[in-house]
Amino acid sequence: PTSAPLPFDETLSKIRRILTEKQLPSPLLGIVCGSGLSTLASRLHDVVQVPYADLPGFGDSTVAGQKSALAFGLMGEHKYPVVAMLGRFHPYEGHKPAVVTYGIRVMKRLGVKHVIITNAAGSLVPDIPVGTSTIDSVVVVQDHFALPNLTGMNPCFGPMLSPDYPRFLPLGDAYSVYLRRLAFLAAHKLQFTTDALAEGTYAWVAGPAYETPAEGRFLRDAGAHVVGMSTIPEVVAAREEGLEVMVLSLVTNMVVIPETYRSIKAEVEAELAGQPLSLPPIEVASHEEVLAVGRQKAEVMGSLVEKIVELVQDQ
Ligand code: 6GU
Repeated sequence: PTSAPLPFDETLSKIRRILTEKQLPSPLLGIVCGSGLSTLASRLHDVVQVPYADLPGFGDSTVAGQKSALAFGLMGEHKYPVVAMLGRFHPYEGHKPAVVTYGIRVMKRLGVKHVIITNAAGSLVPDIPVGTSTIDSVVVVQDHFALPNLTGMNPCFGPMLSPDYPRFLPLGDAYSVYLRRLAFLAAHKLQFTTDALAEGTYAWVAGPAYETPAEGRFLRDAGAHVVGMSTIPEVVAAREEGLEVMVLSLVTNMVVIPETYRSIKAEVEAELAGQPLSLPPIEVASHEEVLAVGRQKAEVMGSLVEKIVELVQDQ
């Protein structure tokens, strides 16, 4: 089987023309901004934004809190050339895996070596709390658990884009030890406490509905620490492209996992016995909460990413 070729040539020549015109070097590092984190662009010097609509192969990000553009610019005290996707694509929006991963593949073809992929995630475990004003709610991802990948929604599913890619992509080393070290060194340089960053395993779910209590419990019991609806297709594509990958998950909410169910039977029995129980309403996740925490923490997340970029040197 064959699929339509991706329009890399046109996308790349448009981008290169803009970079030449603005006298910007080709990016060496790529950043993907998750919900509420697109303010990262304000940290770039000499920034130029290119709307996805001007680039063939990109879709339109339709999620509240995300922008539809690439931002090129220089980051940190060494003015490192970076490209940031200010909004990303999710399969739940109706985008094909080829669209979801296109930005990563374009980054590779522009000369990017390292990618830092951010997202907003729900925490499945009490020792990774949402945190307060600082950064004790960022998880440096060490591994992932992706049910969709295991069941046919893997971006490598189907004919290979290039005969140079491995047919059977190993993912045991997906999360760069080199970059993860830099995250902790960056946190230290920023004088965050040593337990300000957590390490954990990210569960990818297709969404867009949030987990039920039974699903949350299942993911937690399977060993995941945080859960979200993005990132993993990009990680897989980035590894297929041979990029060094780091994922930072901003914990925006706790996944509500009650250990016991409210018994309606017991409630009715109490009511009939003239002693009605008064129980609190059921808690649920909300995108507003996710966005609000994302916005609150955007500054500190941005400073962490910037510091990591300062520490990155070509290996
Ligand atoms: Cl609680 N679940 C999922 N699937 N994605 C999220 C989230 C929860 N919080 C932020 N993103």
